[in-house]
Amino acid sequence: MSWLSRLLAPPLCADPALLRRALEGKTVLLTGASYGIGAALAVRLRQAGARVLLAARSLEQLQALGSHVYALDLRDSASVDQVAAAVLRDHGSVDVVIHNAGKSIRRPLLKALDRPHDFERCMGVNYLGPVRLQLALLPSMIARGGGQIVNVSSVGVRMPPVAQWAAYLASKSAFDHWLGAAVPELRGYGIACTSVYLGLVHTRMSAPTKQYASLPGLSADEAACVLCRALIRRPRSLQPWWLAPVHWLSPVLERPLEWFRF
Ligand SMILES: NC(=O)c1ccc[n+]([C@@H]2O[C@H](COP(=O)([O-])OP(=O)(O)OC[C@H]3O[C@@H](n4cnc5c(N)ncnc54)[C@H](OP(=O)(O)O)[C@@H]3O)[C@@H](O)[C@H]2O)c1
Repeated sequence: MSWLSRLLAPPLCADPALLRRALEGKTVLLTGASYGIGAALAVRLRQAGARVLLAARSLEQLQALGSHVYALDLRDSASVDQVAAAVLRDHGSVDVVIHNAGKSIRRPLLKALDRPHDFERCMGVNYLGPVRLQLALLPSMIARGGGQIVNVSSVGVRMPPVAQWAAYLASKSAFDHWLGAAVPELRGYGIACTSVYLGLVHTRMSAPTKQYASLPGLSADEAACVLCRALIRRPRSLQPWWLAPVHWLSPVLERPLEWFRF
């Protein structure tokens, strides 16, 4: 299976010298830094000379990774406001915000009938919390003269709807759309917006889906490398090579795929 892994997700690591040139001395706020992709990325950002502000709920995990740590629960508006205020107080502004924190739920609709909180939780972590955080930080980024907003997204938002992933993909799509709509306004202020559409990454997020364990995917560190490339090049989007044709074919694929259960 490893050849298939390499074909679907070739390991393209970012040049450390270019990463250092892009980030040295910059202030980078990284959400979801306690585990998985975020923890791997935190190490690479620190090695590149960035001042990395780490945010998540698990403070102990964050403290093991760096010294600028913020306890953040994206589902709690007061927590988001407090973290934004603390970041502005401590650092004045940020150059880069990486919206990496995420919550995924895979559950059949008929098993979620008494679980409306599934949808509320995903919306809180993947959409409403990040929007609230970004709104609070935007004025200082504009005053500073620019920056970058990075959305760590999923290939699923650019594919036909996938059964059982409604709560996760609807909330990831919401933030993707929100950021896309912000692009024209923010461009004039020198703020680049980048959506990175990741395929399967083997982290604690994907681990509960046993079928995924043997599927080709990236490690957390390989996904962190992809994000580093997004920080160097600041493209509007970054995605695996095969996603564009799948996206174009989506209107054709949507109906046939509705007959399959995943
Ligand atoms: N794994 C994949 O296959 C895959 C594929 C495509 C995209 N992605 C995206 O990649 C990003 C990172 O995922 P991962 O695979 O590294 O998952 P992970 O290992 O589960 O890490 C998720 C991170 O989000 C944080 N988080 C969760 N709930 C939070 C909350 N309420 N408030 C603040 N932070 C919260 C967690 O920290 P605490 O628990 O300490 O709060 C953790 O640091 C996510 O946005 C995910 O959607 C993942």
